[in-house]
Amino acid sequence: MKKRILGKDLEVSAVGLGCMGMSHAYGPAADKKEMTELLAQAVEMGYTFFDTAEVYGTPENPHDNEELLGTALRPYRDQIVLASKCGIRFDETSSAVNKPLIPDGRPETIKKSAEGSLKRLNTDHLDLYYIHRIDKNVPIEETAGAMKELIEAGKITHWGISEADEDTLRRACKVCPVTAVQNRYSMMYRDYEALFPVLEELQIGFVAFSPLANGFLSAKYNKDSKFAEGTDYRSVMPQFSPEAIDKNQEMLRYLEEIADKKDATPAQISLAWMLAKKPWIVPIPGTRKYGRLLENAQASEVELTDQEVRELDKMLDTVPMSEVFGGSRVEEKK
Ligand SMILES: NC(=O)c1ccc[n+]([C@@H]2O[C@H](COP(=O)([O-])OP(=O)(O)OC[C@H]3O[C@@H](n4cnc5c(N)ncnc54)[C@H](OP(=O)(O)O)[C@@H]3O)[C@@H](O)[C@H]2O)c1
Repeated sequence: MKKRILGKDLEVSAVGLGCMGMSHAYGPAADKKEMTELLAQAVEMGYTFFDTAEVYGTPENPHDNEELLGTALRPYRDQIVLASKCGIRFDETSSAVNKPLIPDGRPETIKKSAEGSLKRLNTDHLDLYYIHRIDKNVPIEETAGAMKELIEAGKITHWGISEADEDTLRRACKVCPVTAVQNRYSMMYRDYEALFPVLEELQIGFVAFSPLANGFLSAKYNKDSKFAEGTDYRSVMPQFSPEAIDKNQEMLRYLEEIADKKDATPAQISLAWMLAKKPWIVPIPGTRKYGRLLENAQASEVELTDQEVRELDKMLDTVPMSEVFGGSRVEEKK
């Protein structure tokens, strides 16, 4: 697979693999043996960028995903870039499917979390370590200071911020240069395009999470699609409601038409569209399936011209579009 550079020097595959859904938010955790095989196949296909977090798990096994990657990717550790995240926990008192997040960006929390992640991921360093959400109660300078100390200690080599805004980035970079933001970005959620000039100026990469709008942009889901209640966030995501499926038909038809023209699939067009926007954007779609893993990897071969990207943007600006999931609520610290 083609490669891209995040920040000044972090080389990753043009499409990374978001591993969250193997353990969290997409129904009960997947079979460990199958996912171990899938992760090995991902390395074979050329994926070198793997995304996890300390909170990707289940109530029974809260760190399921890091443990899975720690075992499955151990044989390939030297060939890959491992990214994890710290600084949130779920509000377990909530009965919501997607439980609210409680941020904690205190230096002592970050350092403790890093030790746990290193252990579970079977490694002596993380290549990219994000603060998962900004904690409004802790000045970002303190969080950045902790990341700087982790870099100096050799425990991480790069750091990033998930759901970052301009002001936080500018302040954080003064303490310790930020390599990447990891924000939501897809054809259905384009708010962070406004951040592109800032990222360009500060030389920060953009890792796009939920780049397929949680799978919706693949055009493979319809009113008969069933999602496990209680464990699959898609059961409460607005884009998967019957009304939204109707409302989005014109957009999906358009995507299918372009896909046909380019000998690609709607999911590949969705990824190729953001790859064409900036050379420092790296989508990290998630999947539990071999065929989709391959399909998403091959999106890096689909070239869209500037004109095609402009036409797609114009279509997205004007076509009827439903609401899309915007993330779980972030609570004040308890
Ligand atoms: N920083 C954050 O706060 C944050 C938040 C959310 C996610 N993330 C990261 O971003 C990664 C990706 O986000 P995401 O998983 O929420 O959303 P996504 O990548 O937009 O969508 C994943 C869903 O799409 C399906 N899918 C994937 N490729 C497909 C294809 N080619 N055709 C049809 N369906 C396809 C998958 O189903 P199957 O498994 O059935 O293929 C899965 O249900 C996560 O794994 C995680 O690492 C980060």
